[in-house]
Amino acid sequence: MNRIIVAIDGYSSCGKSTIAKALAKYAGYTYVDTGAMYRAIALYTIRKGLEDEASIIAALPQIEVGFVLADGAQHVTLNGEDVESQIRTLAVGNCASRVSAIKEVRAFLVAQQQKMGEAKGIVMDGRDIGTVVFPQAELKLFLTASPEVRAQRRYDELVSKGEKPDFEAVLADVNDRDYRDTHRAESPLRQADDAIVVDNSFMTIDGQMELIYKLFNEHADFH
Ligand code: DC
Repeated sequence: MNRIIVAIDGYSSCGKSTIAKALAKYAGYTYVDTGAMYRAIALYTIRKGLEDEASIIAALPQIEVGFVLADGAQHVTLNGEDVESQIRTLAVGNCASRVSAIKEVRAFLVAQQQKMGEAKGIVMDGRDIGTVVFPQAELKLFLTASPEVRAQRRYDELVSKGEKPDFEAVLADVNDRDYRDTHRAESPLRQADDAIVVDNSFMTIDGQMELIYKLFNEHADFH
């Protein structure tokens, strides 16, 4: 079976990473969480107190984003430091949504992401993977779910990490982030014309995986 590129895009808290990780394991492929890369840059700007666009762009040469395997899971690194546990907060997510609107930040990360896919055999998730990073990807999935379902998932995730979120605030945050992700000038989130849409509002993880493994096998055979 040929090794292919699988691009998974969609709104925040749609379960992209759960599906992408499971598919990568199933296929024996590398998984790349591009949202974690934008979050790592956001964390850098928060730590350094960088607020304006010009100083964030000027800092890019000092930023190195990578991945390491820790306890069998992929963790993102910022200048060699494992920052996985620090990037999953609402504050870093909001900052990532803002820094990801900067053209130079996108060009910086997109170049790295394209390099990671040179040997194919990759499952990458994000917002612009099927449209910008790998427009040639053999399989493109676009995941969606209703804002309420996504807010509930994010709420449950935050509670499981010991945070005490307010549901209405989490829902407002989901709606704000959707607006910013779809309305920014640079590579806004949009469905590629040849993407397969999966609305998982009322699907179980097992149900989704069954569908996605089937799509993967069809596309990997075909190419
Ligand atoms: O998927 P996530 O919530 O970890 O992503 C964090 C932010 O990064 C999100 O607001 C959108 C942005 N992002 C992006 O612009 N392009 C990507 N390929 C991945 C994430």
